[in-house]
Amino acid sequence: MHKIIIEGGKELSGEIKISGSKNSAVALVPAAVLCDEEVTIANVPNISDIDALDEILNHLGATVTRNDDMIKIDSSKIENKVIPEVISKKLRASYYFMGALLSKFKKVEMYFPGGCSIGARPINLHLKGFEALGAKVQEKDNMFVITADNLRGAKINLDFASVGATINLMLAAVKAEGTTVISNAAKEPHIVNVATFLNNMGAKISGAGTSEIKIVGVNHLHSCFHEVVPDYIEAGTYMILASIIGKKVTISNIIPDHLESLISKLEDIGVPMEIGIDFIRISAPDKLMATNIKTQVYPGFPTDLQQPMATLLTQAVGKSIINETIWENRFLNLNELNKMGATTELLSNSKAVIVGPTKLHGKKVKATDLRAGASLVIAGLVADGKTTIENADYILRGYEGIVDKLTNVGAKIKLEQSNE
Ligand code: EPZ
Repeated sequence: MHKIIIEGGKELSGEIKISGSKNSAVALVPAAVLCDEEVTIANVPNISDIDALDEILNHLGATVTRNDDMIKIDSSKIENKVIPEVISKKLRASYYFMGALLSKFKKVEMYFPGGCSIGARPINLHLKGFEALGAKVQEKDNMFVITADNLRGAKINLDFASVGATINLMLAAVKAEGTTVISNAAKEPHIVNVATFLNNMGAKISGAGTSEIKIVGVNHLHSCFHEVVPDYIEAGTYMILASIIGKKVTISNIIPDHLESLISKLEDIGVPMEIGIDFIRISAPDKLMATNIKTQVYPGFPTDLQQPMATLLTQAVGKSIINETIWENRFLNLNELNKMGATTELLSNSKAVIVGPTKLHGKKVKATDLRAGASLVIAGLVADGKTTIENADYILRGYEGIVDKLTNVGAKIKLEQSNE
């Protein structure tokens, strides 16, 4: 395990270049196995989640070559093997191999994807959708065995606009016989990025980015080149940081439209922003105003930015309420923020109150999940003195080059092996 050590209280200025989206890349890599030829994906972030997916591809017998942010994947000779639990448990997104391998081989055996600290993370909507397409789902010795004589297009309505289920069912339907319509589909930018990738291979998907996605099954998917969309959650994390201690911090290589809900919230909080075609420049105002946050599916306020935003609200004047409607346990960062001097309180497992501004002091804290870790990095940079963040590997899963990117704007931050 690693730890991150920060000497806080420094003003940050300069440019932070945003990488490819983790939540898109972790779907694009499994989707590549659907293709019967080699595909190339650019702007892939160099994060540990991608390393784990590489392990799965190699285990299946795909040929994978990575250099810099480019990945070439040739799945023409892959075999349908069980993915070892030790690898599939490394990341939730391994479950995208369910839809991809079911589509390619009409059979897939996979271990239950683990839950994590933010919630139980069930996959009932994925499995229900596979059954609607004609598959049989059996559970045995904490594995799913999903088989289909053939997959037929179906009308599938999602009880909840689940990102994972929407993508997994697109993967399963892309070579099914006939037409599939997914209604109440998720609309996140990564859904569009995956649909575009599949269409570049020759799939026939329309409506991605709306709540109704139509997939007309095709027989063959051919080689293509594709690019991962910029990571709007990484971008939002650094925008929140710049709003507290930035001076002309430019967050570049982004699509501002993907950040509309955050931009609107930062305007309410009193943060002036210069918004360009592919960048946002932020200088922290003298005063941040308290506000209320309610997380919602896209294009609402993203749940993945709720924890970083909590740190900003500890510096805002007044009382803020956070209402987390997506995950049942996504406030584990608050205890750690309180250790650093914040005044936060859990009102229920979905509601918290934060009163500010409070002075934050460097402490030894623990990351419990990826975005909680991001919340603590922001707190460490804002606090005076030294902050040590244990379990920093969580953070490395989703923020490419975070130590270098922050050092380049003046932060005193380093990564070390931890003996905890
Ligand atoms: C994706 O998770 C992201 N992960 C999450 O980001 C993100 O928080 C989430 O979407 C919401 O935006 C990846 O893309 C790899 P969901 P996913 O299916 O697909 C319930 C991060 O920090 N649900 O939209 O697992 C579920 O319990 C990570 O980058 C079911 O009940 O999210 C939750 O309450 C954390 N049954 C809600 O839906 C299902 O079958 C949202 O889940 C599926 C989901």
